[in-house]
Amino acid sequence: MKTIIEPFRIKSVEPIHFNTETYRRQALKDAFYNTFLLHSDDVMIDLLTDSGTSAMSSAQWAGIMMGDESYAGSPSFYRFESAVKDITGMSVVIPTHQGRASEKILFSITGGKSKVFISNTLFDTTRANIEFAGGVGIDMICKEGKSPAIPAPFKGNIDTEALENYITRHGAAHIAMVIITVTNNSGGGQPVSMANIRETSRICKAHNITLYIDACRFAENCYFIQTREAGYASKPIKEIANELFSYSDGCTMSAKKDAFANIGGFLAMNDQELATKCRNLLVITEGFPTYGGLAGRDLEAIAIGLYEVMEENYLHYRIRSIEYLTQKLSDAGVPVMLPAGGHAVYLDAKQFLPHIPVDQYPGQALVCALYIKGGIRCVEIGSLMFGKYNEDHQLVPAALELVRLAIPRRVYTQSHIDYVAEVIIEVFEERNQIKGMKITEEAETLRHFTAKLDFA
Ligand code: F0G
Repeated sequence: MKTIIEPFRIKSVEPIHFNTETYRRQALKDAFYNTFLLHSDDVMIDLLTDSGTSAMSSAQWAGIMMGDESYAGSPSFYRFESAVKDITGMSVVIPTHQGRASEKILFSITGGKSKVFISNTLFDTTRANIEFAGGVGIDMICKEGKSPAIPAPFKGNIDTEALENYITRHGAAHIAMVIITVTNNSGGGQPVSMANIRETSRICKAHNITLYIDACRFAENCYFIQTREAGYASKPIKEIANELFSYSDGCTMSAKKDAFANIGGFLAMNDQELATKCRNLLVITEGFPTYGGLAGRDLEAIAIGLYEVMEENYLHYRIRSIEYLTQKLSDAGVPVMLPAGGHAVYLDAKQFLPHIPVDQYPGQALVCALYIKGGIRCVEIGSLMFGKYNEDHQLVPAALELVRLAIPRRVYTQSHIDYVAEVIIEVFEERNQIKGMKITEEAETLRHFTAKLDFA
C-alpha cells in the first residue's frame, strides 16, 4: 500500500518559533505549570485543541471575501442555513458564536432545577452549562468505553441498557433530554454507531424524551460508521450524516471542529416553539437571528467547510494520521487509548506514570513533561479537569487519567507528527524521573483552564 498523502498543497505558512528545554522549563514555571497559561509563541507543536485551529482552504478564504456583513438578511446567512439544513435535515438553524453559546441558550430554556441530561459523555462546557442552569448531567458510556486499552469499534456508544434502567427506576418526566456526543471527545474521541443512535432514539421516542446530537465532530463519526459498521461501506458521508441526524430532535454544533472554521457554531432543531424561545434569548446574548454572534464572512467559511469536511479523501487522510501516531506509540509500548479516535491521540497517564498517585495528577505531570522535552502542548483530561472534592475536601478522581494530543485539521505534516512520536517515546523512556503535581490555586468551575500548580 502506498503512503497516504495529505490531500492538499500548502499555499501560506506560519513560522514555528524554536526554543530550548531550559527556556521552556522557565516558561512553564511562569505559567504555573498550566499549559493553558503559556504564551502560544512559546509552543512548538500545539496539540492543545483541534478547536478553531484548523487551516482553512483557499475556497474558504475566498468565501471570507464574499461575506456580506448586512445586519439582517445577509446572503451569507442563507448559504450557511442551507448547508446546515442540507446536512442535518433540521428545519430551524440558529447561528451562534461557538458551541457553548448554543449549549447556554438551549439549556437555559430546557434545563433548570432537577432537570436531568443523560449522555454517552458530556463535554466539559456542556456539563458546565447544564449545571449552571441548575440541572444535572449523567454520563452513561458503554462498558467498552471505560477501558482505554481494550479495542472495540464503537467505544463512544451510550449504554442503552443503563438508560432504560434509569427510566424504569426514575421515570422520564424529569429527563430534559438525552445528548449523544459524536465523536465522544472526553472518552477518547471514540465513535458512536448508527445502531446505537437508532436504539437510543427508539428508547427516547417510547418515553417522549428529546434526543439531541452534540455534532462537533459529526463527519469523523460518520467516517467511522462508513468504515466499521455493516451496511454503510458504499454510502456517501452526507447520506450517513443525514441518517444520523434523522434520529434526533436537534443538535448543537461547534463549527470550530468539523467545519474548519476559526470561530462559529449553531443550534438546529425541528421544534418551532422551542426555536422561538431560543431566538428570543439569542437576540439578547448573541445577536440578530441571521448572524448570531458571527460576521457574515464566518458564516461563509462554515458553509464551505461543512462540505469540505465530508470529502472522503480528506477523512481518509484525517483518520489515518491519528491512527499513524497512535500506532507508532503503541508499537513502542506507550500506553495509548485503543483504537485511535477521530481527532486526537489519548495517552493513558495512569499506566504511563504508575508511580504518581491520582491525587498528584499524573495526567498534568505528563502534560508538563511533554512541553519541557519537546515544546509540545497538550491537555489533561483527568482529575484536574473532572475531579471533584468530597465533604472532607478529599479528591474524588475522574474515571480515567488521560492526556489528549488533539490534532488540528490540515495544519501539521507527517514530519511534525513523527517528531511528536519521538518526543513522547523519549519521555516514556525517562518516565521514572517525572514528579507528581499539586494545585496551589483553583476556580470553582472549569478549574483546569486557570488553575495554578507546582510540583508536589
Ligand atoms: N462539545 C464538544 C464535544 C466539544 O469538544 C466542545 C469543544 C464543545 C462542545 C464546545 O464548543 O469550544 O465551540 O464552545 N471542545 C474543544 C476541545 C474546546 O478542545 O475539545 P466550543
